[in-house]
Amino acid sequence: MQLSFAAPQSVDAGAWIVAALEGGTLTAAAQKADKASGGALSRALKVSRFTGKSGQVLEILAPAGIKASRIVLVGLGKAADFDGPKAEHLSASINGRLSSAGETAATYEIEAPKGSKLKPGELAAHLALGARLRSYSFNKYRTKNLDEYESKLKTVTIATGAQADAKKHWALLEGVANGIATARDLMNEPPNVLHPEEFARRVKALLTKLGVKVDILGEADMKKLGMGSLLGVGQGSDCESQLVVMHWNGARKKSDTPVAFVGKGVCFDSGGLSLKTGAGMMGMKGDMGGAAAVVGTMQALASRKAKVNAVGVIGLVENMPDSKAQRPDDVVKSMSGQTIEVLNTDAEGRLVLADALTYTQRKFKPKFVIDLATLTGAIIMALGPEHAGLFSNDDKLAGRISQAGKAVGEPVWRMPLSPNYDKLLRSKIADMKNVGGPSAGSITAAQFLQRFIEDKTPWAHLDIAGVAYQDGEQKAHAPSWGVGWGVRTLNELVTEHYED
Ligand code: BES
Ligand code: MN
Ligand code: ZN
Repeated sequence: MQLSFAAPQSVDAGAWIVAALEGGTLTAAAQKADKASGGALSRALKVSRFTGKSGQVLEILAPAGIKASRIVLVGLGKAADFDGPKAEHLSASINGRLSSAGETAATYEIEAPKGSKLKPGELAAHLALGARLRSYSFNKYRTKNLDEYESKLKTVTIATGAQADAKKHWALLEGVANGIATARDLMNEPPNVLHPEEFARRVKALLTKLGVKVDILGEADMKKLGMGSLLGVGQGSDCESQLVVMHWNGARKKSDTPVAFVGKGVCFDSGGLSLKTGAGMMGMKGDMGGAAAVVGTMQALASRKAKVNAVGVIGLVENMPDSKAQRPDDVVKSMSGQTIEVLNTDAEGRLVLADALTYTQRKFKPKFVIDLATLTGAIIMALGPEHAGLFSNDDKLAGRISQAGKAVGEPVWRMPLSPNYDKLLRSKIADMKNVGGPSAGSITAAQFLQRFIEDKTPWAHLDIAGVAYQDGEQKAHAPSWGVGWGVRTLNELVTEHYED
């Protein structure tokens, strides 16, 4: 899809998208379209139920007097509620609709309504982001009927009086769009292709080009570091486990302590010897959604040369049953020195994260560490696909993450931690067991992770099992199984609070 910003001018082909405010008042561009088409919009408004509410659409095909193939009038809703995510949703959903109608070109001429938080240039950039996110497709394994799956919409123009400002904002968002596409690609890849070593190779090739330092630790390196917890998970797999360490050093103060992101990268989760059912295994190629989000975030930060020092650490493993596989009842020793009784080999994500968290804190002494993981089925039961679960030992960090998620349209919901939940992890023979009781599954998983947080490092855990991929209805901006959830929130968090 070709995307450009241009000054408003007459639309010569394709769809012309203009807006109305809540109550049905046409914006200046919509009035222009109305006039050019001999009052087609006003006439249509009279006979329709369109009132300018957010999400409403009124379409006029082949209007007389103009070259555009259609005028699409969209409702902006309440001006005060019209923000970045709303603008993205608008262009994403309209583009989807136009593509199914076979339209190949679209021109958006939408002004920021008075009272909206968006400046004209920002609005244009967010429309562009929605269009770009919607144009994603993953077709590398199709050999036929490709055109059925690709968006028909080839040219999208954002008409704006604030071109320079729009381009400046887009320069910041384009890297985010690319980071999201990377995260989606990694999610969508099948597990026979994207095993830990291939994942690590791709990350290195992609991020090195952008100036990120990428180190890959193999099993021998991790053994030396004492990472018995992570290594136990990959023990039953033919694929070698990997720890990938990404380092972006963009702060003005080069020696500034970094922010740190840690991701669960289980390239396939069969459950191990505590084998999942056939149905339960569906989608478990996506059990590396946390790692994908961390990689996408590092790409976004490096692309826009963020003035921050940031590290990303991802633990890449495959969880398989085998005669060499870890057994339920095994005891492993983590890098932190703490021992873990592995009572369920399907509670593997926390075992991977434990060592990745210890490594990250000891090596980098970060300002904070945020981990992302498709950690528990229980969070899907609790929050569904609407919110990610947030756990944190630090109210300030938690507040900032909640705020960032809300600002970009990736809402999170804070969940509790407490010593009484922690008690559920007591083991008969080791420092802890890797599962709690039958209840509060997402919380006991988070309590487990908290045992690996040292010296009160501000820490947050995002359980993204419900939001990382989508099996049913797809979100307008994410026409893809892998959503790429988390890249925007982490980028926003850094933008708002951690650049110098
Ligand atoms: N990767 C799964 C969590 C998951 C389940 C993600 C469904 C997405 C969809 C995780 O490794 C897991 O298996 N968790 C177990 C934990 C249990 C054994 C304590 C779960 O949620 O059932
Ligand atoms: Mn599992
Ligand atoms: Zn898992």
